Amino acid sequence: MRKLAAGNWKMNGTLADLDQLHLLEQAFKDSSVDILICPPATLIHAANSATQTISIGAQNCHAQAKGANTGEISAPQIADLGARYVIIGHSERRQDQNETDAEVNAKAKAAYDAGLIAVICIGETLDQRDAGETLDVLGRQLAGSVPATANSENTVIAYEPVWAIGTGLVPTTEQIAQAHEFMRTTLLVSHGSTGQDMRLLYGGSVKGSNANDIFAVANVDGALVGGASLTAADFGPIITALEQA
Ligand code: PGA
Repeated sequence: MRKLAAGNWKMNGTLADLDQLHLLEQAFKDSSVDILICPPATLIHAANSATQTISIGAQNCHAQAKGANTGEISAPQIADLGARYVIIGHSERRQDQNETDAEVNAKAKAAYDAGLIAVICIGETLDQRDAGETLDVLGRQLAGSVPATANSENTVIAYEPVWAIGTGLVPTTEQIAQAHEFMRTTLLVSHGSTGQDMRLLYGGSVKGSNANDIFAVANVDGALVGGASLTAADFGPIITALEQA
């Protein structure tokens, strides 16, 4: 499978920041890994026009294709702008917008219907980890959030411990290995052989300085990167580490 270096710009970036895409494209023209940037929705069209080799994605979509949903954006609208991916169920949306597994599941199906690849995010809070519930939480989220029609072509799963996002805290490689092995095993049971090829990303405070260690972990097929994806100077070393893993 081709590994995936994914950047989530969150609510950062204006047109001027597309310069970073040009820099990345120049540096990684013939990369052996897939590169994805998910800018804010305001930049999707311009970002897609600005690059040939970097895939562009959205950070959320609505579960319905169209309708009276002021301020929302649908999966077909995202696809219409040339985006190929959409992040679904990021923990910031699960927390701030109270998104449930059922809503995440419905959004992923909407993404498939529009021909988009869903990057479905799961992960435990610190309280849940401290209570020894991590694998229970991941199992529940996989069962609830990942549609039965998910396969290695239309779905990427991102393991993002909530306590590691934007905090500088990173799980140990043993903790990442345990979570990723659990996800692989669970997906093989729930989805059959396609679960073997579904890309499993780690996300949460990935940087150039820790990327080599993280990418050496079994069943880690790439990363979903927030803060360190905003500039080519920070994201470049992470892509290089993935190429070399
Ligand atoms: P971070 O964010 O890399 O800034 O921790 C990761 C994410 O939210 O996907």
